[in-house]
Amino acid sequence: MAPGPLASIRVSDGKLEIVNQLLLPHVTEYVPIASIQDAHDAIKSMKIRGAPAIASLASLSVVHHLSEALKASPTPEFLVSVDALRAHVEPILSFLSTARPTAVNLSAATKRLQNTLTSSIAAGKDVSAVVADLIAEGNLVSDEDVGRNKEMSRWGGEWLLQYNSTFAKPTVGVNVLTVCNTGSLATSGYGTALGFITYLHETKKLGRAYFTQTAPYHQGSRLTALELQILQIPSTMICDTMVGSLFQHHDIHAVVVGADRVARNGDTANKIGTYNAAVIATRHRIPFIVVAPISTVDLSIADGSQIPIEQRPPIEACLVRGALYPDQGSGEQAVVMITPPGLDGIYNPSFDVTPAELITAIVTEKGVAVRKDGENTFDLSAIV
Ligand code: MRU
Repeated sequence: MAPGPLASIRVSDGKLEIVNQLLLPHVTEYVPIASIQDAHDAIKSMKIRGAPAIASLASLSVVHHLSEALKASPTPEFLVSVDALRAHVEPILSFLSTARPTAVNLSAATKRLQNTLTSSIAAGKDVSAVVADLIAEGNLVSDEDVGRNKEMSRWGGEWLLQYNSTFAKPTVGVNVLTVCNTGSLATSGYGTALGFITYLHETKKLGRAYFTQTAPYHQGSRLTALELQILQIPSTMICDTMVGSLFQHHDIHAVVVGADRVARNGDTANKIGTYNAAVIATRHRIPFIVVAPISTVDLSIADGSQIPIEQRPPIEACLVRGALYPDQGSGEQAVVMITPPGLDGIYNPSFDVTPAELITAIVTEKGVAVRKDGENTFDLSAIV
């Protein structure tokens, strides 16, 4: 039996921990998240990343903070009244929501907690009941993730097998390309696009999963490679620049990616390089599928031009992280500079926007929206 997947977040005995994704795949180190500041820093520095995972960590850090406060003696000032609680929690929620700007899941989670706070207070509850509601809602943000990932993976997988009836034949293994990392490490478990691939594998429909290295952070070569290896899913890594070559020389049946924000018309922000893959997939008439939870859909914005795109620090594009000779038994971590020092002018957006017209289908836990032939946008009403 394949060993279990890596958990991005662990909660046990009142301790909240994350696996430090900057050290993977060579070192598996869980680090404590003991404060709201720790959670913010871990998200900002990308020790934890992936839209659903950062939303889960932000929520769980609030749960942890409140649970610790309940145990503290003497009782902290902010637990003496609902007004004091509100004055304490609201700045925490806005602080957490600023840790990274593009993935709307993060602000959707903090807004959910804000709504809980507001409605529990409006219902006349006392401070301990309001805290209990916040703790329950915060836990729910994380707990509901795995189930919905399985749902969207099943919807998407079944849709693809019907999209082209030859894919469902037992003799045809479906070959899929993905970008970045969208598996257990990017979520609370199972994954979105990687969940879709896992579903195809579990139902014996997958041929091979191809994945891009995903420079500059290398979510593909460091994280997706590790997850696919642990799950024993047949896979092949390609460099980001090889997508066109792959489509020219191999039978690729679909491109499947996650998302950080989907606008009302279907324009989708995802890891940098996703747009390139979509353009080339369109040229090769390969279906391009976005798999993401409803919390990634931002109905408040009309199209992708309104999605805030995070610019990462330029230095991150100049560095490669890894271990020195891990195959020779050394796990020593190294961060190597691949540019001349002092390089001026570095462009380092973390995400790009794929226009809806290049996307074939968008999948959430509620179902699949398919772009109609000749139309350039999606009607997402049935899947949000
Ligand atoms: O910068 P990252 O690693 O947080 O970017 C992650 C992605 O772009 C993922 O595709 C997206 O968050 C979906 S994860 C299920």
